[in-house]
This record gives sequence, C-alpha cells and structure tokens, in this order.
Amino acid sequence: MTLLEIRDLKVYYYAFDGVVKAVDGVSLDIKSGEFFGLIGESGCGKSTLGNAILRLVPPPGRVAGGSIYFHGEDILQLPEDRMREIRGDRISMIFQDPTAALDPVYTIGDQIVETILAHNPEVSKKDAEARAIELLKLVGIPGAEARIHEYPHQFSGGMRQRAVIAIALANNPELLIADEPTTNLDVTIEAQILTLLDELRRKLNMSILLITHNIGIVAEYTDRVGVMYAGKLVEVGRTVDVLTDPKHPYTQGLLGAIPGRGGRKGRVTEIPGTVPNLANPPPGCRFHPRCPKRFDPCDQEEPALVRLPGEGRMVACHLYRGPES
Ligand SMILES: Nc1ncnc2c1ncn2[C@@H]1O[C@H](COP(=O)(O)OP(=O)(O)OP(=O)(O)O)[C@@H](O)[C@H]1O
Ligand SMILES: [Mg+2]
Repeated sequence: MTLLEIRDLKVYYYAFDGVVKAVDGVSLDIKSGEFFGLIGESGCGKSTLGNAILRLVPPPGRVAGGSIYFHGEDILQLPEDRMREIRGDRISMIFQDPTAALDPVYTIGDQIVETILAHNPEVSKKDAEARAIELLKLVGIPGAEARIHEYPHQFSGGMRQRAVIAIALANNPELLIADEPTTNLDVTIEAQILTLLDELRRKLNMSILLITHNIGIVAEYTDRVGVMYAGKLVEVGRTVDVLTDPKHPYTQGLLGAIPGRGGRKGRVTEIPGTVPNLANPPPGCRFHPRCPKRFDPCDQEEPALVRLPGEGRMVACHLYRGPES
C-alpha cells in the first residue's frame, strides 16, 4: 500500500542571485512499512525534499509546484493548523543537525512529554511521563527513569541522538523522515541506531525515508532506493536491483565512488566534474556534462523517468528510451 505519493514536486529557493531549483519535478512513492533510502551527492536536494514533506522548507525556499498525497490527501493544500496536527504526530522527522532539535534548557523528559501532550491533550502529565520513560527504554537508553530528569548536555552524542529519535517516535508516526541521522556519530553507534530504527519500523509498522550519502547503509538497511542528482530523481528501484545493476550512469559513478568497488580497491574514485549550479542547471539531462555515456539528445532533451523491467524499476536516462517513449 502506498503511504505517500510525491508528484512532480518543485521546491525552489528564491535567492538574490537567482532561483535555485533544488527539487525540480520529483515524483516518488513511499509504501507503507518500507525502509526507503534517498541518496545523492551533497547539494542535490535531498534535505529540501525531506523538509518539503513536512512543509518546513525555510525561506527563501518555497514549494513551487506539485503535490504530496498522504492517505490520498494533498498535504501541500492543507491549512497550517491541519498540517500541525500531522507534523510530529503522523509524520515526524529527525533533522540533519539533530542536536539542534533538543532545547538545552529543558530536561529530555520534558521535551518528550511536551511532544506527546501537543498532540494528545487528553493524556495526563503522569501518563505522558510514563510513556517518555518507555520511549527512552525503547531507544536503548539505560536508566531511563532517572535520565528523563537530565538535560541534553548530560547526554553523550549517541544518547542525544537516541533521545531525538525518542521524540520523533513519541506519537507512533506512520512515516519517519531521517535526514542523515547518524552523521557525526562513530560507526558502532551509527550501526546501533540504524538497527534500532529498523527494528522499530518493523515493530510499529512505520515507514522510514532515510536520507544519506552512505551507500553501505543503504545496502544494509533499505528496501528501496532513490537516487537524486541536481534536483531530479534519476533512478529508483529495489535496493538490491539498483546496487547490483545500476542503470543510470550517475548511479554507476556513485557506486564506483565507494571504496573497494569499481576502481582500485580501497580507493575512492570521485565522479569527475562537480554538481551544477542549481540556479542555472545545464539543459537536457543535468548530468550530461559529467556523463561518460552522453550522446546526441543528452544536452538538449530532458530524459523522463521511464519504467524498466523489474519491480518498480525506473530510470531517467536517454540510454533507456523505450520504443513507446
Ligand atoms: N536557504 C537556501 N537558500 C538558497 N539555496 C539553498 C538554501 N538551502 C539550500 N539551498 C540550495 O538548494 C540545493 C539543495 O540543497 P539541500 O540542502 O537540499 O541538498 P542536500 O542533498 O540535502 O545536500 P547535503 O547532502 O549536503 O545535505 C543546494 O544547491 C543548496 O545550495
Ligand atoms: Mg541535506
């Protein structure tokens, strides 16, 4: 079952020096209960897409077009008070800078309680506190009964991240958007936190949209993956299919860029060239200036996302233009 349907979403930043088309016509489905990974180089629009789902794109950014259907209703059209009911309740988010999500002057417990009460005013403070303790236990914080009375600075980086996850899970969201939730944490804690999210996903039947640079993490945890390049979704499919047989030359380049794969073992082979300026992207396929396989139409015609054989397999590249397209 599809939980979230993003259709032709456009999110632009109206900056002094031009309009930055950070997300420019992205369509994507997130299914109920699935672990979906979104990858792509820095600056390709991943966070902008994640923020747009909760209508939290900061100015000068604005949704410039498209729809985001959640249970069949376009959440981009909802009045702000209805959106506030969804945000932090049915859809919640772990932001790219998680420590900024914690308020230093309130205890961890108070912050969880506040999140619960904001959406469930009928719950008593006592019950909310009990739930806060339960949540801290759920995310693997030992001594939860005592630690709800502590402040964020009394928590280690990994424990703070778990607390942020506890807040995000406080109201049993149907969709959790996790934007680089483990950046700045060491790899052991990273693995613990992702394993935890995966367990909670199964237990709570929640969908996760994980935004990451890390292909290893995508390989290990996600069911499906979408690859973004310069504001566009260029490839999507089951993770196993995309990683073992990438179709788009950009995906092929990204996979070649991880140590031990493609190029020389243990060496990171970068894709030559740089991500284009999104205020003035190249015409045609945005990847064409860097693409080793470009041919005639690539610098003029924009490739559409077309279906390929294989479950939910799609790619936007002129190499795969079917006879019908
Ligand atoms: N406030 C802003 N004003 C103008 N441009 C912005 C703003 N925020 C982001 N952008 C631009 O939008 C584009 C997409 O940025 P975004 O943060 O969504 O990328 P990202 O894929 O999440 O990158 P990263 O992997 O580094 O987090 C970039 O070109 C960025 O410079
Ligand atoms: Mg980002």
